[in-house]
Amino acid sequence: MSQNMIAAAYLLAAVLFILALRGLSSPTTSRRGNRFGMAGMAIAVLATLARPGNHPDGVVMILIAMAIGGSIGLVIAAKIKMTALPQLVAAFHSLVGLAAVFVAAAALNAPGAFGIADATGAIPPESRIEMTLGLAVGAITFSGSLIAFGKLQALLSGKPLQFFGQHWFNLALGLAMVATIVLFVMSGTPMFFWLTALIAVTLGFLLIMPIGGADMPVVVSMLNSYSGWAACGIGFTIQNLALIITGALVGASGAILSYIMCKGMNRSIINVLLGGFGSDNAAAGPAGVAGDRTVKSGAAEDAAFILKNASKVIIVPGYGMAVAQAQHALREMTDVLKREGVEVKFAIHPVAGRMPGHMNVLLAEANVSYDDVFELEQINPEFSAADVVYVIGANDVTNPAAKTDPTSAIYGMPILEVDKARTVLFVKRSMASGYAGVDNELFFRPNTMMLFGDAKKMTEEIVAALER
Ligand code: TAP
Repeated sequence: MSQNMIAAAYLLAAVLFILALRGLSSPTTSRRGNRFGMAGMAIAVLATLARPGNHPDGVVMILIAMAIGGSIGLVIAAKIKMTALPQLVAAFHSLVGLAAVFVAAAALNAPGAFGIADATGAIPPESRIEMTLGLAVGAITFSGSLIAFGKLQALLSGKPLQFFGQHWFNLALGLAMVATIVLFVMSGTPMFFWLTALIAVTLGFLLIMPIGGADMPVVVSMLNSYSGWAACGIGFTIQNLALIITGALVGASGAILSYIMCKGMNRSIINVLLGGFGSDNAAAGPAGVAGDRTVKSGAAEDAAFILKNASKVIIVPGYGMAVAQAQHALREMTDVLKREGVEVKFAIHPVAGRMPGHMNVLLAEANVSYDDVFELEQINPEFSAADVVYVIGANDVTNPAAKTDPTSAIYGMPILEVDKARTVLFVKRSMASGYAGVDNELFFRPNTMMLFGDAKKMTEEIVAALER
């Protein structure tokens, strides 16, 4: 393939990536978006393999590596549970970061092979800037994503892990990293390159360790953005236009997503980076009793009776619905209620579940109509007119402490104002707190009825009771 044809193929791939992002912005077009993305990636990979001057042995090795990596990816994708997707995404980001580090190291080792050596065989300063920036962002992404993976997989505590003077220590490390980058750019001495890598890896660990439960969504989308910028930086090093464009698209869209998530959580990005939220412990007590306070609990028949007599019901799904895979039972319940003439709507909080769009994907899988699904700003004014709110496996996203308790880990996060409804039904297994580890005052309110049990089983029992 000629250079011009390759450039045209990369341009086509870039257009397809942009169409992919556009498609992914709505559940109705997301499948099409994914197909555009796959087509774009196939074109970019084929064009790269067909570049003039590629050594045939290299192409064969890449094809073998792709076959091995692709097979592993295929097995993981087929086996992965919906609830484990966030940690899988974090793990993939870490691999993108590691790849950037490896490419930078390879370029340092054999600049001629990457076409960046000058007449004397040395790497010119501008290439040193690109490769160390890619290296630093890649190394931070690598270790930071490993910690995010550990926290989401519950291998590490979700609580913020901090030590005295951590912010100052991080600042000193950040400045030291800038210094080693400058020294490498000026001198080209490999030692400064490796020192940059070492400091960046340490910084990645230390930056993500102190971030607690409630802020993990923002962190994952931020690491997504970092992984894009790392790829973009490395694209400059190896002079690959497709990698530069793709990296920039991932970096920019990840940054926009982080912004949207921050807005959803009412946090500033600086606040998240320097934070340590979610330090309270999950306060799980025996069902029905928490200290000397009692809660009202009911059975499926009670819930069915209340739901049947309602004229407006709002369903609030959360992480527990995903764990229990209760979406199909929920859809059945919706159908039965609608047949009874009840108006049913779904309310989705921007950080419900464990990844952006988590609830939307599950509801779409169960064929819940998009017209029945509403976002926080749209649905909040409607809670006061609802007879019943059916909160299924959601907790933090309804917690009024976010509005009333300035000491709370989730203070400032907008919530679904379910407490304004006439009756609130809470389906969960115990009195345990949610991801952020904050107790929920709503469980004790007089208009709340707890329905203790697995979300799917409870909903199925309610459907059976409704149909009796
Ligand atoms: P959570 O506050 O985590 O609450 C989920 C509740 O589901 C738990 O209290 C749990 O109580 C219940 N549950 C778990 N398994 C269940 C099952 N099989 N059946 C019934 N209930 C079950 O969830 P949320 O309200 O969706 O809020 C999301 C939280 O995750 C926020 O703090 C958010 O910041 C964080 N987060 C979000 C994301 C994204 S991007 N969405 C990513 C990472 C973290 P029991 O144990 O008593 O059953």
